[in-house]
Amino acid sequence: MEVVPLKDPAAVASVAADVIEAQVRAKPATVLGLATGSSPVPTYDELVGRRAVSYGRVTVFLLDEYVGIPADHPQSYRATIRREVTDALGIDPGRVHGPDPSLLPAAGGSYEDRLRAAGGVDLQLLGIGSDGHVAFNEPGSSLASRTRIKTLTEETRRDNARFFASIDEVPRHALTQGLATLLDAGHLLLVATGEGKAAAIAAAVEGPLSAGCPASVLQLHPHATVLVDRAAGSQLARWEHYAEVYAGKPDWQGL
Ligand code: GLP
Repeated sequence: MEVVPLKDPAAVASVAADVIEAQVRAKPATVLGLATGSSPVPTYDELVGRRAVSYGRVTVFLLDEYVGIPADHPQSYRATIRREVTDALGIDPGRVHGPDPSLLPAAGGSYEDRLRAAGGVDLQLLGIGSDGHVAFNEPGSSLASRTRIKTLTEETRRDNARFFASIDEVPRHALTQGLATLLDAGHLLLVATGEGKAAAIAAAVEGPLSAGCPASVLQLHPHATVLVDRAAGSQLARWEHYAEVYAGKPDWQGL
């Protein structure tokens, strides 16, 4: 795992956008895994502002989707990702895939089939929940899990209540890629900013590999990159070391 300590959220967005653009430049028919939540939004704004590469051949797969709200609900993750980034990048909505709650109980297997048929995710962008969840894999999720339905914790529903009129409207369930599904992606790129993520980042990066901190599964991936600003990295014991390694990176290496 490579931890990249950066000054602020703008620097995180800029480096994340560089990585995504480099991927699309190298492989125009990239399968991109995108995440919702507020962490990736500055990255999306950066990509849209730059429009530096053509996204016409890119296919997008979402990490997760709420269960219990209609597909056309403004807070459904498919609607959100189109609004936040894919429409503005010119990605045809037909190329934007998400787990489909209408297919339950077979929705998980069917999403895994679609991922496989597309050749798997090349680059997966991730955020992290304040309790260490990734996608909607809450603490306790099996490290071997595949796409399935999960019950959201009270903490996650409270965190996400800001997107709804009240916490009562936040769905109690979601379909989510599993932790083993995530490990199938070619490259995992996690972005985290702000003090509220500091404990989760420290646990994920420097703590033990444990279902108790689902994001620690990144430790099992041969190509995982974690971009953090000062606040999100404030509880990392090895911050100086990561800074030294990043500063000394050979120019040709990239992330
Ligand atoms: C949600 C999403 C995750 C996201 C997390 C953090 O629950 N399912 O993919 O990483 O919350 O969200 P935020 O970036 O808004 O803090």
